[in-house]
Parts: sequence; structure tokens; C-alpha cells
Amino acid sequence: MQRVFSGIQPSGIPTLGNYLGAIRNWVPLQDTHDAIYCVVDLHAITVWQDPKALQTQTREMAATLIACGLDPKRCILFLQSHVHAHARLAWIFNCVARLGWLNRMTQFKDKAGKDREAASAGLYVYPNLMAADILAYKATLVPVGDDQKQHLELANDIAEKFNHDYGVPDFFPRIEPLIQGVAARVMSLRDGTKKMSKSDPSDQSRINLSDDHDAIALKIRRAKTDPEPLPEHVSGLEARPEARNLVGILAAVTGTLPENVLREHGGKGFGSFKEVLVEALVAHLAPIQAETRRLLDDPAALEALLRQGAERAAAIAEPIVAEAERVVGF
Ligand code: ADP
Ligand code: NA
Repeated sequence: MQRVFSGIQPSGIPTLGNYLGAIRNWVPLQDTHDAIYCVVDLHAITVWQDPKALQTQTREMAATLIACGLDPKRCILFLQSHVHAHARLAWIFNCVARLGWLNRMTQFKDKAGKDREAASAGLYVYPNLMAADILAYKATLVPVGDDQKQHLELANDIAEKFNHDYGVPDFFPRIEPLIQGVAARVMSLRDGTKKMSKSDPSDQSRINLSDDHDAIALKIRRAKTDPEPLPEHVSGLEARPEARNLVGILAAVTGTLPENVLREHGGKGFGSFKEVLVEALVAHLAPIQAETRRLLDDPAALEALLRQGAERAAAIAEPIVAEAERVVGF
């Protein structure tokens, strides 16, 4: 069975973008692949995290993943900091990746903001840690949102250079991204050119998976749109990023395609369309929220699941990373 690996940062509450672009697509892979999923708390501290909040958010993220359908019996689910192989391999990759490669990463530029000199060194080398996360398991398929494509190309460059420089041509495999779904990139509700992100300073820019009816209604009603009615066909969405985003979201949560959404709503204004979207989102998220709360009510049981997941993950990663260390000369 092909091995898949994917991770998500516990740097905030998961958003609809995380869910539609990533988490939701991880669920079916549990049955067709050898699936490993990780809450990447090492990545989270590349920007400041309050320690208490990080602890809480990490558990909330794990509970949410289970509530979304990840089943610790059908996949390996764990916290990155519980498996030290990630950090060890990341250090080796820090020494393999070239500064010039990292300089081309657009996400660093986005996340570092204007004052790049003040960004952490960790944020800069984040893609090297991401490469280590995947390659510590020799995973070959990585289901991610479209925003992560560039990082996966870098991971392949690192693997290739490691294999070449150390004369071990087949040591690390090639990684393929798996970018799925009609909402592979969900955009901000305030700016159709920016991706929806849990680290965006404006809470109005995103739907959090924990948002209740009122929060969802407020955010969707205020979501930026243009004054035109919805087009009849998807071609009419091309130059209209906000409209395309909302249509894509409705299609994704109702399990259909954007053309079907437009067949029903084309020609209507956003007012009535947004109300339909609110109800569809609430209906989709309510059962996930109930299950997340149930899991968080028993912290000891959740912790035990995560520790078991870490043991299973380490059993795979330890020998691979130990071998990489021998290759390097440690
Ligand atoms: P964030 O940027 O929200 O902090 P992460 O970096 O933790 O998200 O990414 C977790 C997963 O969610 C990745 O697979 C990423 O590709 C996906 N993802 C994040 N934001 C979006 C988005 N707006 N649309 C689609 N997928 C997304
Ligand atoms: Na991201």
C-alpha cells in the first residue's frame, strides 16, 4: 500500500480552508493507503504561541481531526513533538537545502510580512522540516491544499540532493502532491486574492470549524462580493474570485460541482445565495462540533490515543532516520 503523510498546524482553530482543502480528503485515504497524519506543533512555534494555548489547541486540533473522520484504528494520528525523528532529520535537511531555494518560497514572504528581519529562523526553514516530516516515513503521496505545492517541490529537491551528494540514489523516494476537491484553495472572505488561513489576524476572514450559526451567518453575510448577480456558468466566475470562492464552498459542502450550484442559483443576487450557504455550512459543521466536544470531555482518553499513535509513528520513522544519520556519517 502506498504511504501517505500529511500534517496540520495547531496554530489556531482549523478553518473551512483546512477542512475542504486537506482534512476532508484525508478521510477516504485511510482505507486505500497506509495513512499517517500529524498535528505539527513544531511548525506552529515558527511564530509565537502562548504555551498554554498551544497545549490546548494541539489537543483541540487532534479531537477535531478525529471528529472529521480520522480514525486512529484506520490511520496513524499523533503529535509531531512526540516523535523526535522529525527534528533530527530536519537538521540534516537544513544542511542539504540551499538558501537560494528557501529564498524562493512565497509562503515565507506572506507569513513573515513586512518586517522580514524580525521573522524567526524557524519560519524560514519551515519547508525543510516539512520535507523531514514526510521523508522520515518515506511517504510518497502528500494530500495537501494547493498552497503547499511549492513546498513539496522543495522537498523533492532536498531528497534528490541528499541522494546525490551522499551517493545513495534510491534512499529517499519522490513525493507526489495529491491536490483534491473543488475547493482545493479556499480564499479569505475579506479578500478573494488571499487564502483563508487560521493565522490571518482578521477572524472575519475565515469560517472556523467551531463557529456556531450566528458566527457563520455574520461572516458569510459580510463576506466580500461584487454587485453582479451570480453567473449562469462557471466561465462567468473567472474574473470574480469572491463569487468563485463562495460557489466553490457551497459545492464542496453539499457534495456537488460548481456548475450544479450555478444551475440552481445562477442569475440570483448574493443576498439569497448567502442564506443558502449559511444553512449548508451549519448543517455540515454541527455534527463535527458535537463529536469534537465529546472527545475533549475525556482528555485522558484522547492523550492515550495520541501516545499510541506516536509509538506507531516512531516505529516507522526511527529506523529510517537512524539510517539517514549513518549515511551522513554520524
Ligand atoms: P493554515 O495556513 O491555515 O495555518 P496549515 O499550514 O496548517 O494551514 O495547513 C494545513 C493544511 O490545510 C495543508 O494541507 C494546507 O494545504 C491546507 N490549507 C490551508 N489553508 C487552506 C486553504 N485556504 N484552502 C485549501 N487548503 C488549505
Ligand atoms: Na499553510
